[in-house]
Amino acid sequence: MTRLVELEANGPRKLEPDDIDDEKGDVAVCQCGLSDDFPFCDGSHRRTRDEADGTTYVYEDGQRREVKRVVTTDDAEE
Ligand code: FES
Repeated sequence: MTRLVELEANGPRKLEPDDIDDEKGDVAVCQCGLSDDFPFCDGSHRRTRDEADGTTYVYEDGQRREVKRVVTTDDAEE
């Protein structure tokens, strides 16, 4: 499975000591791209647990959709 993720940041987010979770003592960085608290994990990755191998998904407006085909601008001009 893969996910199409739309991000607007164009630079790094420097982690600070205040980013450490007081209870767990660690920093959980989101790797799924779905967190509403990006770059930190907020548990949204649980929504991906039943994704199928070989399928690409997009998550938008609280919905999950399968992506059939990605069209780039080069494709659209042909
Ligand atoms: S890894 Fe993305 S929300 Fe947890």
